[in-house]
Amino acid sequence: MFKTHSCGELRPEHIGQEVTLAGWVNRRRDHGGLGFIVLRDRAGLTQIVSSPEVAPEAHEVAATVRGEYVIQVRGVVRPRPEEQVNPDWATGAIEVEALEVRILNIAQTPPFYIYEDSAVDESLRLRYRYLDLRRSRMQRNMVLRHRTVKFIRDFMDAHDFIEIETPFLFKSTPEGARDYLVPSRVHPGKFYALPQSPQQLKQLLMVAGYERYFQIARCFRDEDLRGDRQPEFTQLDFEMSFVERDEILDLVEVLFTELVAAVTPHKRILSPFPRLSYAEALERYGSDKPDLRFGMELGDLTAVLSTSEFRVFRAAIEEGGQIKGIVAPACADYARRQLDELTALAQKQGAKGLVTLAFRADGVKGPAVKFLTESEIAIIAERLGAREGDLVCIVADARPVVASALSALRLAFRDQLQLADPDLLAFGYVLDFPMFEWNEEAQRWDAAHHPFTMPRPNTYDEMMADPTAVLSDAYDLVCNGYELASGSIRVHDPRIQLDIFRVLGYSEEDAQARFGHMMEAFSYGAPPHGGMAPGIDRTVMLLAGENNIREVIAFPKTAQAMDLMADAPSPVDQKQLDELHLKLSESE
Ligand code: AMO
Repeated sequence: MFKTHSCGELRPEHIGQEVTLAGWVNRRRDHGGLGFIVLRDRAGLTQIVSSPEVAPEAHEVAATVRGEYVIQVRGVVRPRPEEQVNPDWATGAIEVEALEVRILNIAQTPPFYIYEDSAVDESLRLRYRYLDLRRSRMQRNMVLRHRTVKFIRDFMDAHDFIEIETPFLFKSTPEGARDYLVPSRVHPGKFYALPQSPQQLKQLLMVAGYERYFQIARCFRDEDLRGDRQPEFTQLDFEMSFVERDEILDLVEVLFTELVAAVTPHKRILSPFPRLSYAEALERYGSDKPDLRFGMELGDLTAVLSTSEFRVFRAAIEEGGQIKGIVAPACADYARRQLDELTALAQKQGAKGLVTLAFRADGVKGPAVKFLTESEIAIIAERLGAREGDLVCIVADARPVVASALSALRLAFRDQLQLADPDLLAFGYVLDFPMFEWNEEAQRWDAAHHPFTMPRPNTYDEMMADPTAVLSDAYDLVCNGYELASGSIRVHDPRIQLDIFRVLGYSEEDAQARFGHMMEAFSYGAPPHGGMAPGIDRTVMLLAGENNIREVIAFPKTAQAMDLMADAPSPVDQKQLDELHLKLSESE
C-alpha cells in the first residue's frame, strides 16, 4: 500500500498510530535542527517532522527533497505543540513524525508556485496546465464541477430522464456559429460537422418515443471567443415530449434551486425566479440577460422630452429613436476623466454620445445643462428619481443602441460601486423572444434561437407577412448578467417547419438537403416536444464565483482557440492530408 491515509484525514484520534502517507512536497524548511515538510495530496495537507535523533536516515533523505518531489512517508501521528496548532488546516492539530522517507520521483523547479494561489500569467498557467491544476483553487473548481454534474445526473435520473449519447461525427446542426468540420477519408470531398449542440438528435429521440432524454453533452462551435465562450463546451442537454413551456421552466427552477442548496449552500437565490418577457427585459435593463442582483433600471424619457429643443434629443426623436437614462447613486462628484470613460463605454456600444447631469448641492452640472430648460431638468430628475448627489446618464439614439449603451453603463456602475452581492445568484427567466432577427450583412432573416423553435400560437398567422411581428416560444435562463440556458417548444408539424425555412430564405431543395432527415422523421408521428440546455461551464463558473469559464475547465483553449500545453492546432503530415483528399491552398 502506498498510503494508509490521505493527507486530509489525520485527526487527534489517530495520535499514536503508525501511518503511511504519499504525495507531493508542498514546502520544506528546517527549524531548530528539525526538518519540516508540508505534504500535499488531493485531500489536503499534513505536516511531517523529521529529527536526527528519532530517525537519522529519514531525516537525511527529508533534507534532500524539494518542492513538488513525490515522496512516501512512514511515521507516527503525534500532537502538535500547542503554539503550532493550525486552525486553518483540517489536520492542523497533529503532525507525523517520520520514521522513513522515500523519494518516489523528483521534480524540476516549477515555473510558478504551486503552494500558493498567487497571480500567474494565464498563458504560463495554460502552458503548464497540469501544474496549475495542482493548485488549490483549480482543485476546488474541479471538485465543484464534479459535484455539480453528479447532482444533475442524479436529479435527471430521479425525474425519469434517461441519458443517451449522441454522435460527434454528424451533420451541421446550426446554432448560429461556424461548424468544425471533419474530412472523411472514405468519402473523398465529404465532411462531417461536429455538432454545435445535439439539437436535431434530441428531437429525433422524441420522435423515437423516449419522452424524457438528457445528456451531459459536449458541443463544438467555431465562434469568436470571450470569457464565457469556448470552442468546445458542455451542456446539460435535455428534451421532453408532451410538455408545455411552464413545466420545463418549473423543472429547471427546481433543479437549480436544489443544486445551489446542495453544492454551494452559502449562496442565496431569488425565489421564485422572476420571469420577464424579452421586451420587458430590454425596456427595464437594456439587455436580454440582465443582472437582476441590483436595481438601477432604465427610465424612459422619450415622451416627456418630445418637445425638447436640445439638438441631441431632437435628432433621436425625429429619427424614431429613444431617450433613456439611468441614475448612478452618489456619483455626482465623478471627475472629468471618469465621465470621459463612461462616454467612451457608451460610444463603444455605438452611441453617438452620453449626456451626463451631476445633481450637485450647488446646482446641476454637465455640458448639456445649458441646452436644457429648468423644467426639463426637473422632469428628468422626477422621471428617473434622481436626488442630490446622483449622476444621471442619458443616451438618445436608435432603440437598440440606447439599450446596449445603458446596459453597459449599468454593469460598469455595478462593478465600480459594488452594487451586486457576490453571494447572490439571481436566476431569472426571459420569455417571448422574437422569432426572427434581421441580418443586415447577409440581408436575410435569421432564426433568433434556432429554426426548430415554435412561433407563439397567436403570432404565427402573421409570420409570412411580417416576420418582425412573430414571437417564439423560446426562453432563456439568465443569472447575474449571463445567459445560462436556452430552450424552446419545438415545431412538430412539418408544414410549419417548411414555412419557417421559407422565411429564413431556404429554397425547398436547400431545406431538403440540410434538414430532409428531420422533416421526414416528423412525418412519422412526432409528438409535441420541447427542451432546454443549461451550459455546464457557465453554471460552474457562477457557482465557483469565477468570472471566466476557463477557470472551471480542466484543459481549456485560449481566446485564440489554442491549446498552449499540447500546442494545438498544429500542422499534420502530407500523408495524412493525402489520405483525407485535402490540399492546402498556396497562402498556407
Ligand atoms: P444555445 O445555443 O443558446 O442553445 O446554448 C445553450 C447554452 O449553452 C451555453 N453555451 C456556451 N458555453 C460556453 N461556450 C460557448 N461557446 C457556448 N455557447 C453556448 C450557454 C447557453 O445558454 N440547442 C439549444 C438548446 C435548446 O434549444 O434546447 C442550444 O444549444 O450556457
